[in-house]
Amino acid sequence: MILFEDLHKAFGPKRVLDGFTLAVRDGETMVVIGYSGTGKSVAIKHVVGLLEPDAGRVAVDGQVVSELDRAQLTGLRSRIGFVFQFAALFDSMTIFDNVAFGLRRRRDLAESEIEDRVREALALVDLAGTEAGMPSELSGGMRKRVGLARAIAVRPTYMLYDEPTTGLDPVTSAVIDELMIRTREALGVTSIVITHDMRSAYSVGDRIAMLYQGRIRQVGTVAEIRDTADPVVKSFIEGRPDRSASEAATTLSAEEGIAVEGAQG
Ligand SMILES: Nc1ncnc2c1ncn2[C@@H]1O[C@H](COP(=O)(O)OP(=O)(O)O)[C@@H](O)[C@H]1O
Ligand SMILES: [Mg+2]
Repeated sequence: MILFEDLHKAFGPKRVLDGFTLAVRDGETMVVIGYSGTGKSVAIKHVVGLLEPDAGRVAVDGQVVSELDRAQLTGLRSRIGFVFQFAALFDSMTIFDNVAFGLRRRRDLAESEIEDRVREALALVDLAGTEAGMPSELSGGMRKRVGLARAIAVRPTYMLYDEPTTGLDPVTSAVIDELMIRTREALGVTSIVITHDMRSAYSVGDRIAMLYQGRIRQVGTVAEIRDTADPVVKSFIEGRPDRSASEAATTLSAEEGIAVEGAQG
């Protein structure tokens, strides 16, 4: 189980997480939705200790992540497959070496074991036989699948997917959704999937939680979220812009030095 308990995280004056609480049960796929820039990635980075909370905590199987020593954190990370928003492949390495990357860092596996696992992971994402190729030969969707294979190869208990279908066309997105479902069935993993693609959320999720203004606005089954009575959740799932976004847009554009026209209150 992954438990986020009253998590607070700010960057300078900007409060990103402000009482974020969510329990992810063993075996389920929890989809976290929310507008861009609301802190979805920040939240899951706490699970693997890439960020430390200002207050509150994240516990994985009862272990509080921010209290782990270096060796314990390495142990935790070896049980978690993290598929990043951008496929983050090493372009100078073969596909085999990309998938083997996490396994080699562990230093406790024989090369033959690594080979077996890489082959098995690539087969699971329908990329068997591509081991010797280079990432530059691959389409965006195939790169995502290599990223997925790299996470699968560690035989994780947990999978964290950060926007796995963002930037992909609908057909390729559906393939990635299918592979996430297959991965869950093959490995029995517990997953957190961050997305703002509702079609993907409905297809892979058991439950869906919406992050809004630093905390979970609503969490429920796919059916409960589809039928939500909450106007904020309803707006989001129906693809309408955030009514309180003008403030956020101003902050974001100021950060990025972009002028936003007509940001009204
Ligand atoms: N390491 C960081 N330093 C400063 N600000 C950050 C950092 N990581 C994220 N942020 C800010 O936190 C907010 C939430 O970011 P993020 O979690 O990436 O949003 P999203 O919901 O789109 O994944 C954004 O405004 C972002 O600029
Ligand atoms: Mg993000």
